[in-house]
Amino acid sequence: MKEQSLSVREAIIGRRSIKKFNGQPVDREDLMNIIDDAVWAPNHKNREPWRLVVGCGKEIFDLHRLLRDTAIPNWKELSEEALEKQMQKFTLAGAFVFVIVPEDVRQKQRLEDFAAASTFIQNIQLLAWDYGIGSCWKTPDYLDAPAFREAIGAAPGERIISMLQLGYFDELPKAVERKKSKEIVTFFGSVQNNDESE
Ligand SMILES: Cc1cc2nc3c(=O)[nH]c(=O)nc-3n(C[C@H](O)[C@H](O)[C@H](O)COP(=O)(O)O)c2cc1C
Repeated sequence: MKEQSLSVREAIIGRRSIKKFNGQPVDREDLMNIIDDAVWAPNHKNREPWRLVVGCGKEIFDLHRLLRDTAIPNWKELSEEALEKQMQKFTLAGAFVFVIVPEDVRQKQRLEDFAAASTFIQNIQLLAWDYGIGSCWKTPDYLDAPAFREAIGAAPGERIISMLQLGYFDELPKAVERKKSKEIVTFFGSVQNNDESE
């Protein structure tokens, strides 16, 4: 197991979504180790409501073709150079993780499962960051397209909630400032009730 080098705080604050990768592949074993740790995410009733379809290694080239056909439907009309440029958002990533959750017909369970899977995804992102691997959670419209779902292997009643791209990178994107606690917190009991009619 890899020794952790970042504190939880450092990983949370320092992680950035990486959208420009450098083409270095992500090692399958590193990815499996990251996933083995990420599953320790909170999830109601221990349903562990997630499964993953991973694209890495030599199979990643088939995935590139699927993404080309899906995301760039006019690819045949493009010059080789233009296509290569458009494809870089896929080809330079080192691995792909499609996170699939069951879509429970009961709203409460469905929302809980989506929430739990989201914490699981962030675990993956933070753990990957500790390995020096960047990631970006992507939700392109085609995740719901029937042909794409079929190619990924999503069954009826399942939803692909994330295309997580992972990989190595040369440039750290600048962080967009976040709101401070005092901007988002209201202390219970501190709100005045000015409605005198009650
Ligand atoms: C549910 C979700 C969906 C996202 N979808 C996309 C996406 O489709 N494309 C993209 O470039 N980034 C996507 N992102 C990444 C956000 O753009 C990114 O987290 C945000 O800009 C904040 O940057 P940071 O992660 O570096 O702090 C998504 C993030 C989340 C949580």
